[in-house]
Amino acid sequence: MIKTERLTKCYGDFFALKYVDLEVGEGEYVAVTGRSGSGKSTLFHIIGGLDKPSYGRLYYKGKNIYDFSEKEIAKYRNNEIGFVFQAFHLEPSYTVYKNLEIPMLIAGADKKTREEKIKKYAEKLGISDKLKNLANNLSGGEKQRAAIARALVNEPKILLADEPCGNLDTANAEKIMDIFEGLNNEGITILLITHQERDAKRAKRIIRLLDGEIVAEPT
Ligand SMILES: Nc1ncnc2c1ncn2[C@@H]1O[C@H](COP(=O)(O)OP(=O)(O)O)[C@@H](O)[C@H]1O
Ligand SMILES: [Mg+2]
Repeated sequence: MIKTERLTKCYGDFFALKYVDLEVGEGEYVAVTGRSGSGKSTLFHIIGGLDKPSYGRLYYKGKNIYDFSEKEIAKYRNNEIGFVFQAFHLEPSYTVYKNLEIPMLIAGADKKTREEKIKKYAEKLGISDKLKNLANNLSGGEKQRAAIARALVNEPKILLADEPCGNLDTANAEKIMDIFEGLNNEGITILLITHQERDAKRAKRIIRLLDGEIVAEPT
């Protein structure tokens, strides 16, 4: 589903990513791990269509994404990928309901669809009783569950998460990892970026980065 070919990102003469070849099949749950500075977030941004590689290709369903126009890349980003970030990136002054509604407004979903999906994904993530709260007033774990619901409302093909448990305590982190496992069992493809070995082990396959290069891929 996702395939990178010699994906490279340079900042001046510094290589944040060096000739990265990886493949993620439909329905897979893959963790990308490695210590701080190894290029994980750089890879996350490029795979998500948020940042261009300096060199190399990103294929999605056989098509090289960065051959596309900006408009088509935005479409890929909005329709195919659900993003989850370490710092949640919710709009703090909006209600949880509104936060979940925004991606569907962007996608042009009608009111009925928006209501249905918000109900469905709020229930799934256990935040139905929080929809009227301001995002700012949720606990960390609740914020991340709201952010995951928001990532899912447009029913993306891939969930792309960069250190989703980085701001959470162990109990809440485990809850998030349980949720990811459940979502993957239901068929969504997940690419989890994490420096935590404990979280990486929850994925079905681990890819290790060191200084921008893939170092080993245990099977
Ligand atoms: N915009 C940038 N300009 C210069 N260097 C950058 C930039 N973004 C990231 N880097 C460098 O690239 C390397 C990889 O960063 P990153 O992908 O954020 O690593 P990780 O997420 O694994 O901690 C780091 O050494 C970082 O300092
Ligand atoms: Mg990072």
